[in-house]
Amino acid sequence: MNSKTSKAKEFMTQQLHPDGSLRHLITLEGLPRLLIERLLDRAQSYVRPLGEKPPASRALAGRTVANLFTEPSTRTRVSFELAAKRLGAAVVNLEVQLSSRIKGESMLDTIYTLQSLHVDVMVIRDAETGVHAAVAAHVAPHVSILSAGEAHVAHPTQGLLDALTVRQHKGRFDNLAIAIVGDVRHSRVARSAYHVFNVLGVTDLRIVAPPALMPELDEFGGCTRHTTLDSGLKGADVVMMLRIQKERMAQAELPDADRYFATYGLTPQRLAAARPDAIVMHPQPMNRGIEIASDVADGPRSAIRDQVRNGVAVRMAVLAEVMAPRGVP
Ligand code: NCD
Repeated sequence: MNSKTSKAKEFMTQQLHPDGSLRHLITLEGLPRLLIERLLDRAQSYVRPLGEKPPASRALAGRTVANLFTEPSTRTRVSFELAAKRLGAAVVNLEVQLSSRIKGESMLDTIYTLQSLHVDVMVIRDAETGVHAAVAAHVAPHVSILSAGEAHVAHPTQGLLDALTVRQHKGRFDNLAIAIVGDVRHSRVARSAYHVFNVLGVTDLRIVAPPALMPELDEFGGCTRHTTLDSGLKGADVVMMLRIQKERMAQAELPDADRYFATYGLTPQRLAAARPDAIVMHPQPMNRGIEIASDVADGPRSAIRDQVRNGVAVRMAVLAEVMAPRGVP
């Protein structure tokens, strides 16, 4: 077993209760397909058309959820908060200044403090790898750790909402061509999408990026690699665009915005290489005019606003799953 496989196995045992239900959500890598499908089904039951009242339940009544974000976030933080509130939980948001980012030992002190304050679920976004797993290894048995983004490696609830969006539009995962386009190298969204689509059985997964933004060859096994949009989008059913992760690059590595748009920006003309019914996704925040043209982002094939709506539903499903009443083993 290579070190990657054993790491994935170790995470998986840490993430699941002995009965196979979800305790923490740190990565989608290696999660059983049935568990992922159950989460997607549950999330779908929370989706309502815009204009209708969102669903409300008491599944988390008496529980407390803490949002602990040491990196900026709009959608993910707000949707975790709304998800927890719609399930009846109390929510606390910890404002952590980027300049005094807590990490290592002091992160654990914060976690123990929250635990003493009867926090049941800690939603953590952090720029460093390994923080979520380290915290999960130390919390009391009744506490769940949910990742809201870990460095460039994982963003599991984004992966789930992306899968739900594809399922709603395409109704299947087999026989689908999905192209993940842009700064794949630095993207946790791409990595979680890769894991979830693999588990769900997507066989034609492509990554499309300029050579400098391609991941190392030991990652994204089984994906075809394309350095031009024309070849990468050919016949694609789903086009997932990514933001250039400036915060993870040195100034000298940053591509020139105009040149990038001219080669890798998704315009209606470029999208014509994909299938006529292809959908376009983007996790946001979007850089309009750099990785995507506004005509596409706001156009009829864009599923970007569905992704945002699905984000709350998926986070509700994950919260309900980890806080489900459990028999004493
Ligand atoms: C993404 C993230 O933070 O990883 N945003 C999000 O959560 N929707 C993608 C990004 O920042 O580009």
